[in-house]
Amino acid sequence: MVGKASRIACIGAGYVGLATSLCLAGAGFDVTCADRDAAKVASLSAGRCTLGEAGMAGMLRDALDAGRLRFTVSNAEAIAGSGMAFICVWTPQGPDGKADLSSLFAVARDIGANMAGRMDVVVKSTVPAGTARKVREAIVRAAPDAVRAYGLEVLSCPEFLRESSAIRDTLHPSRVVIGCDDDGAALRLRETMEAMVAPGTPFVMTGPESAETLKYAANAFLSMKVAFINEVAGYCEAVGADVRDVSRGLGMDDRIGPKFLAAGPGFSGGCFPKDLAALLHEGRSLGVPLMILEATAESNMAQRRRLAGKVATALGDPAAPPGSSLRGRLIAILGLSFKQGTGDMRDSVSLYFARELCARGASLSLFDPEASQKVGEFLGELMPSIKVCPDEYGAAAGADAVVILTDWPRFAAMDLGRLGAVMGRRLIFDYRNVLSGAEAAAEGFEYHGVGV
Ligand code: UDX
Repeated sequence: MVGKASRIACIGAGYVGLATSLCLAGAGFDVTCADRDAAKVASLSAGRCTLGEAGMAGMLRDALDAGRLRFTVSNAEAIAGSGMAFICVWTPQGPDGKADLSSLFAVARDIGANMAGRMDVVVKSTVPAGTARKVREAIVRAAPDAVRAYGLEVLSCPEFLRESSAIRDTLHPSRVVIGCDDDGAALRLRETMEAMVAPGTPFVMTGPESAETLKYAANAFLSMKVAFINEVAGYCEAVGADVRDVSRGLGMDDRIGPKFLAAGPGFSGGCFPKDLAALLHEGRSLGVPLMILEATAESNMAQRRRLAGKVATALGDPAAPPGSSLRGRLIAILGLSFKQGTGDMRDSVSLYFARELCARGASLSLFDPEASQKVGEFLGELMPSIKVCPDEYGAAAGADAVVILTDWPRFAAMDLGRLGAVMGRRLIFDYRNVLSGAEAAAEGFEYHGVGV
């Protein structure tokens, strides 16, 4: 273990970096978290949490009060005096789907320039196989003398946390994966992680390439599971089956398991699409066939097209020229974040629906309990065809259809009588299957779910 007296640096204060910093500080380590976003650092330093994750605000206050956590904009300040540095920076999607590792390598150079003792560098960011080795090479290039004098190991320790349960997943992970060729460094990281996670958490000790691959494989497998059930949903619609019953029965087979079998508008968000694209890019450049995963990405796009197409067909004027079949139609979109429990709109399927429906001439009224204030940032180009409303009934007022895209529990609890009364036409596309089709029909709605 890195002694609790020795400092740990955490570079990046996003979901992974902030959850890791808070949980390490909570376990008694002395943590310095660096992020280049000065506003975020100021807010966190003042005890104002920048993410709405359960448990974070309290842990932030406790860690600051105990003097075990500091925030800084300076990577140098975090690294100097630390024996272990977690790299938790974003690896966005670059051209052709390739993971953009420029932030990661910039941090590697900063580590080289500022290390002042033996350093264990832990890559938590999601990265292609081989990256931990390249990070080591980058640090050696930046500071060959420091590496020779002090010693350096670079380990892969991928993060599997989900948004909306970041703290719970960090403290109670299904497993901790450590990829490293050096037994001493692997043990130091294992002991550090053991001090943080729940007792009994299993560890997978392996090489760096296997750890890096495991992370991509986990996200790709779950993406595939979602795409699979969405294809089954389309089949259910054609034959009069109910995908919810099919999913339930499938999930009871413990070889399959019940999770990630909820049909919907397709997977989206900041991780699955980009990580799948990055893995596909790797496969193509290495000449390794990843046919199932190529089909997963295409199937996910086809699901979006199919479901947006159903809205356009139900409301559109088939005789209208291209780009205007939905002119004069007002469509309410309920749910903008990529899943419930988070205000994150990065790569959300709602962006696709909004752009697609506007491109056919529709006007949109939008509501999301957490993400509404981000509409300008993500969909500013659609103004003035879109307006943001204070609640679901305001969004539905005068609308020709309601489209539900996020599985927020409050949408399941809507008063359908009240909703129908304010709408221009009682038409609902429940693309998360949160409502009862029978109850909607009893209120006079034409109801379309997914696979039901
Ligand atoms: C995911 C992984 O779960 C996590 O391990 C990794 O570290 C980061 O990526 P997250 O992006 O928070 O986490 O979202 P997740 O809960 O996995 O959902 C991903 C997408 O799949 C969402 O769009 C969600 O709505 C969709 N989904 C999920 C379904 O459509 N059906 C399901 O049954 C499950």
